Amino acid sequence: MVVRGGFPARGKIAPHAAARVEIAFDRRGVLWKHQDSPGGKEACGRGAGRYGERMKSQKGIAMKKKVLVILGSPRRKGNSAILADRIAQGAKSAKAGVETIFLQGRKIAPCKSCYACQKENSKGCSIRDDMQEIYLKLIEADAWVIASPVYWFTMSAQTKIFMDRCFALGAYRKDAFKGKRIAVAMTYGDRDPMSSGCVNAVRTFQDAFGYTESQIVGMVYGSALDAGEIRSNEAVMEEAFDLGKKLVSGDM
Ligand SMILES: Cc1cc2nc3c(=O)[nH]c(=O)nc-3n(C[C@H](O)[C@H](O)[C@H](O)COP(=O)(O)O)c2cc1C
Repeated sequence: MVVRGGFPARGKIAPHAAARVEIAFDRRGVLWKHQDSPGGKEACGRGAGRYGERMKSQKGIAMKKKVLVILGSPRRKGNSAILADRIAQGAKSAKAGVETIFLQGRKIAPCKSCYACQKENSKGCSIRDDMQEIYLKLIEADAWVIASPVYWFTMSAQTKIFMDRCFALGAYRKDAFKGKRIAVAMTYGDRDPMSSGCVNAVRTFQDAFGYTESQIVGMVYGSALDAGEIRSNEAVMEEAFDLGKKLVSGDM
């Protein structure tokens, strides 16, 4: 079924997703396969599937939680990246593994609205760029950290393009979003989160991840203009560390 004339209803991002076998291609066009089997999740292909779950269920051991950090500022060492790094430190202190993706340096085109990702038996996003690799990392991670500066009263363009491209994530795995634990970090030059426009981005994340039935574990945000300035806000830095711990704690 092709979704026409608007946004799919909640929980129906990829109608084809009832299929038992889900496929994905990496950036070299290599096929990755995720297969639901009666005994649990099976994974084929390098790094594919939730092998962590399988190991846990078979051996009763706790696997290291995986956190994927998405940096949406063009400043690699800017304020939002510093906050995200503090969240990562908190997660690491709770024994999680962390990987960071800096969007600015990646080849990621905007969504072109072809709806290929929403078709029955979709092979995923039709744009073959760095998002193909990122889709798989998003699926494998137990939790995401999304960091963005406020640009023109909302999130940065880099972050928004990434969010739009996540429309295709359900084509790689039907439950890719469901229950995913998410932390958001934002910084802005204004003093006030309302007049800065931070609140607009916060609302967008709330609406988007509410729609996908993901779990926003927490959001940290603070005022800072020049790169590095956020470090002097000790309260928000501490809040970020605590959020990192919370992100990977408990049953996931
Ligand atoms: C193009 C641009 C637009 C901006 N727009 C806003 C804005 O609308 N509201 C605001 O409070 N700050 C705005 N700022 C300031 C940044 O949000 C602020 O410096 C932030 O801490 C930058 O985070 P970063 O270091 O992670 O890039 C803007 C900065 C730039 C470069």
